[in-house]
Formats: sequence, C-alpha cells, structure tokens
Amino acid sequence: MCGIAGYIGTKSAAPIILDGLSRLEYRGYDSAGIAVFDGEKIHMKKAMGRLRVLDELTRHGADMPGFCGIGHTRWATHGCPSDTNAHPHMNEENTIAVVHNGIIENYARLKKRLEQKGCHFVSETDTEVLAHMLTEYYNGDPVAAIEKVMHRVEGSYALGIMFLDHPHHIYAARKDSPLIVGTNDSGKFIASDVPAILHHTRNVYYMENEEIVCLSNEHIRFFNIDGEAIAKEAVTIDWDIHAAEKGGYEHFMLKEIHEQPKAIRDTIFPRIKKDDIDLSELGLEEAEIRRLKKISIIACGSAFHAGVTGKYVLEGLARIPVEVDLASEYRYRDPIYERDSLVIIVSQSGETADSLAALREAKAHNGKVLSIVNVVGSSIARESDAVFYTWAGPEIAVATTKAYSCQLAAFYMLAMKFAQIRRTVTAERFDALLNALRLLPEQIEGLLSQKEKIQFFANHYLATEHIFFMGRGIDYALSLEGSLKLKEISYIHSEAYAAGELKHGTISLVEDGTLVVAVATQDALYSKTMSNIVEVKTRGAFVMGLTTLRHQDMENCADYVLYVPETENYFMGSLSIIPLQLFAYYVSLGRGLDVDKPRNLAKSVTVE
Ligand code: AGP
Repeated sequence: MCGIAGYIGTKSAAPIILDGLSRLEYRGYDSAGIAVFDGEKIHMKKAMGRLRVLDELTRHGADMPGFCGIGHTRWATHGCPSDTNAHPHMNEENTIAVVHNGIIENYARLKKRLEQKGCHFVSETDTEVLAHMLTEYYNGDPVAAIEKVMHRVEGSYALGIMFLDHPHHIYAARKDSPLIVGTNDSGKFIASDVPAILHHTRNVYYMENEEIVCLSNEHIRFFNIDGEAIAKEAVTIDWDIHAAEKGGYEHFMLKEIHEQPKAIRDTIFPRIKKDDIDLSELGLEEAEIRRLKKISIIACGSAFHAGVTGKYVLEGLARIPVEVDLASEYRYRDPIYERDSLVIIVSQSGETADSLAALREAKAHNGKVLSIVNVVGSSIARESDAVFYTWAGPEIAVATTKAYSCQLAAFYMLAMKFAQIRRTVTAERFDALLNALRLLPEQIEGLLSQKEKIQFFANHYLATEHIFFMGRGIDYALSLEGSLKLKEISYIHSEAYAAGELKHGTISLVEDGTLVVAVATQDALYSKTMSNIVEVKTRGAFVMGLTTLRHQDMENCADYVLYVPETENYFMGSLSIIPLQLFAYYVSLGRGLDVDKPRNLAKSVTVE
C-alpha cells in the first residue's frame, strides 16, 4: 500500500528510484510519481496507472537528470486515482516536494486553516497539507520545519521531502508507517520497504516512530521529534536477494505456493530440539502458561483465518479458552481484559494498521502481547512483548500463501508446547503430534506435484459467478481462507460457510450448477458434512469435495473429489489449503487476470 523510494549519490537518481518503485509494485498502487533535483530546479512527473506509464513518460528516467530524488507509488485514500492526486506534492512556489505513505487524520481541519490563510490546493489529498505546512514553518532549517509539522499532524506517515534551497539533501520522517534508510558506496537511499533497495545495499537503518533523517552526500543525520541529534545503529539485512524475484515462475504467487514446504521447514525445524519444541525465545514463563485463562487472537484477512484455525488447535490441545477477533472490530469493541490472559497478534507484514492499533489497545490495558510476524523489525514485532517469527521469507504476491501456512505452523507449535506445559496431552500424544508436524513439508510437496489435476478442474470454472465453500470445525476455518484466496485474485464472488449453517439461509442461493467446494477432512465431522453435501446436491449443486483417502465414499455423492494425505486432524488445514490456493491461482490465470497484483488490493494495509 503506497511505496516510497529515494536516492542521493553519485549516480543518476531517476532510474534508481524507478527501479526501486518497481520492486514495491506488489504492495498495490494506482498511480506513481517522481521528483528529481537537477541542482537548480525540482522537476516532477506523475502518471496514473502502472509504473510503466511513468517509466515511458520519463524515458526510463533519462528525461529527469539529477543525483537526488524521491518517488512514490500511490494507493488512493483521499481523492480518486489521478495524475493530480499522485505524489509528489509540491508547495505553490515549487520549492518543497513531499511524498507520503499513511493518512493525515486531521487534514481537513489543517486544510481549512491553510485555505483561510490563502493557500491554494490543487489536489484532493491529505498529503498536500504537508507541503503547505512545511512552507509555513520553513525559515531555512528543514529539520525545524519538519519537526513543527510533526507536532501538529495526527495520523500516520512515512515522508520523503526535498527543499529547493538545500540541494543534494533528502529529508525523511516517520510515524506508524515503515521507512528505512540504506547506504552504499555510491549513495544513500530511503524506502518504505526492503525490496526497493535490496539490489543496492543490505546496510540499513530502521527509522523509529517520530524520527527525522537528513541524507546528503557526506552524511546521514538522525533527529528526534524535538530536533535533537540521535545515534542509530545500522543493521544488515540477510534476505536472500533471489527470494524477492520470480525465479522462473510465471507469478510470485505460484512461486510462493511452491516455497511452502521450505517456509514451513524453516519455521518449525530450528524450534525442534531433541524431540521437543523449544520456544524459550518467546520468554514466556512456564508458570505463566499454566496460569493462562484466556487467549485473544487478533488479526486481519488471511492472518485472521489462521487465527480461526489457531483457536481450534489451542482450545483442543491446550484447553485454554480462545477468542478470535478481526483487528478492525477489536480495537473499537471495548474488550474485557483479564489477568492471566495472552493476546496474540498475527500479521505477515507486521505493519497492518488495524492489527497495530489493536496491539496498542491491548498494551494500554497491560495485556501481554505475543505476535506471530513474518517481517523482522516491523512495527508489530517491535512493539510486542514477544515475537514468534514465521520464517517464510519475503512474500511478494498480494494473496498470501506461504506466510499463512507458516502462521498455521506457528499455532500448532504454540498449542503443542502449551499443552505439554499444562499437561493436557500425554508424552505419547505429544510425540505423535511432533512426528506429524515434521512430516507436513514433505506431504505438501506431494500435493504440489499434482497441480495439473487442479488446473484441469479450475479451467472448467473460469466463467462461474458464485462459489460456496463449506466445512465444519477446522475445515470451516480452512474454507474461509480458500474462499478469500479465490475472491481476491479471481474476482469471483464466493462465500465460506460453516456447513451446518448453510441451511439457515444461504442454501436458497444454491441452484442448478452452483459450484460448492466441500471440505471434509475431520474424521469426527465427516458424516455431518456429508449430510450437508447431500442437501446442496439435492438443490442442483455441483460439488467438489476435498477429503482424505480414507473417505473415498465421498465419490458416491460429490461430483469431483480431491484427496489430501492423512495427518493429525488438527494439522489438516496445512494440507487442504494447498489445492484451494492452486484452484484460486489457476482460475485467476485462466481468466487472464493480474494474479500477483489484484485490483484495489494492497499487500500491506497500513491505513485504517
Ligand atoms: C491475504 O491474501 C490478504 N492479502 C490480506 O487479507 C492479508 O492477509 C491481511 O491484509 C493481513 O495482512 P498482514 O498479515 O500483513 O497483517
């Protein structure tokens, strides 16, 4: 969701910035822009649509000479996608240029005040107020002006700023929206996310909330919101550069689906020691785990769906009551905080605005927060009491696959460890679960090798308008994710239903030929879901069943059956999600859609 790339150094800035922005395309955007300082003037070009439009407009940056510049990909919040609303935004004198990720919540009030003072606004964005405010407070000292603006705006921001009378300088600041600073022999960079600069450097500084930075050819200087100089340590990014590239696959999503066995191995095996699970990294005391009376899992989207599975597994194994909330609901529902409870925030990006706000809400009530996060150093990771990192590596496709799978694995490990400590499973049962856990990556590899079968089936459903997913228990949790995957990349309307709930209303939508994907992998619930399959069949549905080999009798009822291998019932979701991810992928591919960058969506939703 919005991207920032900036460069100052000895090379031409525009091609570096355009390349940086292209590596952030996966985050979702609808327009792009760039401002480059040629030593005398700040030149700006903006274009609605894909980055290639801006690239062509600037002849790959060749038309914008200069060694210092900032660029932006915008995902519209205030004002429709348009050339005018695209960033950068400049003041009326064209002496200050700003790019901004985030939302200025009090912009309407600020705008009114500025208009009363005679400022003329050209865009509908919240960002433009920043350019005008900087002008208002500027007296030759950029840091002092930025500081004053930061004290007056409410909301979230990562900013890149250039001042005409400070040639060869870039200024940046952040609050609640990620921003990093990179450095190499040729120059210095700002970026909203690591992939933008990974080709140039691994040497980065993570900006913290309410910090300002000034980059010039000679130095990098950091300041706090009061303008006091502060020292920061650079860290080395150890991402594999190829992990952020397609590596021969047609799409990032397909690559990431195939990376799941490795991602799960990387997440679970370092934590399995001597036939036991070692979660000492979390710093949770055994006594604390034994005392736990409630767990609240809070997340958005797919991470929420992982949390729904987490509820079944944690309650089933560790016998702790679990509630699961959408972060956007939790933060406003005045939840009840109790002693001896644990809040678990789940997030791939670690930057999702609602999840971060829920975390802060919980912390404000003295809640202990454990987060399950994929991005090291992200805001959610930094603000949590403990972090269970999922080692999925960079996930580029907007539709999450490998991070979701690792979140499931994280819940299995937490549930098993909590169960062991609380003595709600026997040693034998723990060993059986651990063996099953170790086997999951291999079993997923087996499923991936059958992808043609799913492609064949998907190709028959390219023109369908509605699809229902149904299941019970963990199969229901799984259906939620299968349905979301399909919706987000194929644009086919679909709904996931707890199978028993279908007849309380939704079954009226089932008619001749309606596709119903029925997931029935839970032994104890199999016959119940079979009854629901019969109900929809009777109303004309075409049923694709998903079950295990021991339930081949499903073929007597469903029209098409896909099988997944046996594992512990609690872990079934890790296997049954694979065909559903592939189904969504092949439907999207067959419909000729942009699989990795579906319309209107952003990889990381950093605004409310
Ligand atoms: C998943 O495919 C989605 N793109 C989306 O629902 C995502 O899971 C959600 O926005 C949460 O993101 P996070 O895990 O980065 O917090």
